[in-house]
Amino acid sequence: MTHLGLIGVGVMGASFAQNLAENGHAVSLLDRDISKAQAVADAGADLAGDLIVCEDAQALINSLPQPRSILVLVPAGGPLDTVIDMLIPLLSQGDLIADLGNSNYLKTQERVARVEAAGLQFLGMGISGGAKGARIGPSIMAGGSKDSWARVQGPLRDASAKFEGEACCNWFGPGGSGHFIKMIHNGIEYADMQQIAETYGIMRDGLGMDATEIAAVFKSWMKGPLNSYLIEIAAEVAAAIDPKTSQPILDLILDKAGQKGTGRWSVIEALHLGAPASLMMAAVEARNISANKEGRTEMQAAFGASPVAMGAALGSRQEAIDILENAMIAAKVCAYVQGFEVLKRASDAFSWDLDLAAIARVWRAGCIIRSVFLDEISGVFDAGGHSNLALAPIFRDRLMATTPDLQRLVGAGVMHGQQVPALFAALGYHNMRRTGNSTANMIQGLRDYFGAHTFERIDDLGQAVNGPWHNTSK
Ligand code: 6PG
Repeated sequence: MTHLGLIGVGVMGASFAQNLAENGHAVSLLDRDISKAQAVADAGADLAGDLIVCEDAQALINSLPQPRSILVLVPAGGPLDTVIDMLIPLLSQGDLIADLGNSNYLKTQERVARVEAAGLQFLGMGISGGAKGARIGPSIMAGGSKDSWARVQGPLRDASAKFEGEACCNWFGPGGSGHFIKMIHNGIEYADMQQIAETYGIMRDGLGMDATEIAAVFKSWMKGPLNSYLIEIAAEVAAAIDPKTSQPILDLILDKAGQKGTGRWSVIEALHLGAPASLMMAAVEARNISANKEGRTEMQAAFGASPVAMGAALGSRQEAIDILENAMIAAKVCAYVQGFEVLKRASDAFSWDLDLAAIARVWRAGCIIRSVFLDEISGVFDAGGHSNLALAPIFRDRLMATTPDLQRLVGAGVMHGQQVPALFAALGYHNMRRTGNSTANMIQGLRDYFGAHTFERIDDLGQAVNGPWHNTSK
């Protein structure tokens, strides 16, 4: 039994405290609203471990054995810094603060430095799985002080999701590495969700299918390589009926997507690292455009609606659905190739020495992107496979088999005005990535012409030279 502190009993904090108690651990609870902490303790009275309500930070600290370990589940940003500022003067040498929120990894790096300068330890941990996951077993990605990880890994592994008995919970490296990994998890989550929205759109607007028919298609995809939590819940979202109107609830949901920032951060960091992340970018842009409903409605009045029925452009309905499934498989491979490339670039740039196989393993259960696919990815990395997943035989073969359908779908989709930015981005990326002889020679020529930026000649590599235009009077 371990005794931990936990600050912030909102939905995630309450669920995680009860999860820890269910696993026999004692948890001292603190919240600005003591009645919330009391409610969590009351609801968990029958659990194996104790849930102890504390009236203030000092009481929480007094209740914990030294060195103390305190988990913080408050909103990222200002509220988290307020809690850290409150704890620093009260804690003793070697005590640990662990942030389990969706913090920006750069902020986590700063917090590690600030907390360690005060003689304390800090862990930045991404946890995925939503409130339900926090209660029954999330996926946990930790970074920061390795010594302190040894102290809390027992209870966190107990509380985490298990894949075939293996805890989906690990420490990956120093500083903000845990939150970086969680950020990329969310970037991939954005890309997966956008592909689901695009295939839904083709079925709805291109093939004229209703929500119930679309739900059946998503359900059928659970039998193939797309088997994943997000496809499973896409089927449930499409099938759900609104009790008030007896219509599919999906038809009544306003088409303005929210976002809290992790997808955008993923794209920004990928750009900084020079790693392609076009599917995440397409997904973030699609959410941005969706948010401007008024602007879209105004444009539709001026230009007419974009998507038009696709008729038999993709063959029979079943043929079209098979093409959609294959297109999504191809695009999904591209999204994961990109996601793991960003992680590899970050690992090299920041000397984190990230274990890509271990990352894929903690994503196999508990988290939002959990899927059969991730088990295959971990298998590739575990076998010492290429860090470019597209070159691992299982994904290379799959990509080769499905790319023709991605081409068919994107081609027909574009011709019929469908909304397919992520599928389009996947194809554009794959086309460029598989081309040994690109068109960047023209870019280099232009750069040299207007700015004398120089280029290398293919017949004289290693030498920076100028083109003949610099010898003319132009
Ligand atoms: C998870 C989710 C979780 C949360 C996202 C949603 O892994 O459990 O990703 O972190 O649902 O913050 O992010 P958006 O609001 O940006 O879609």
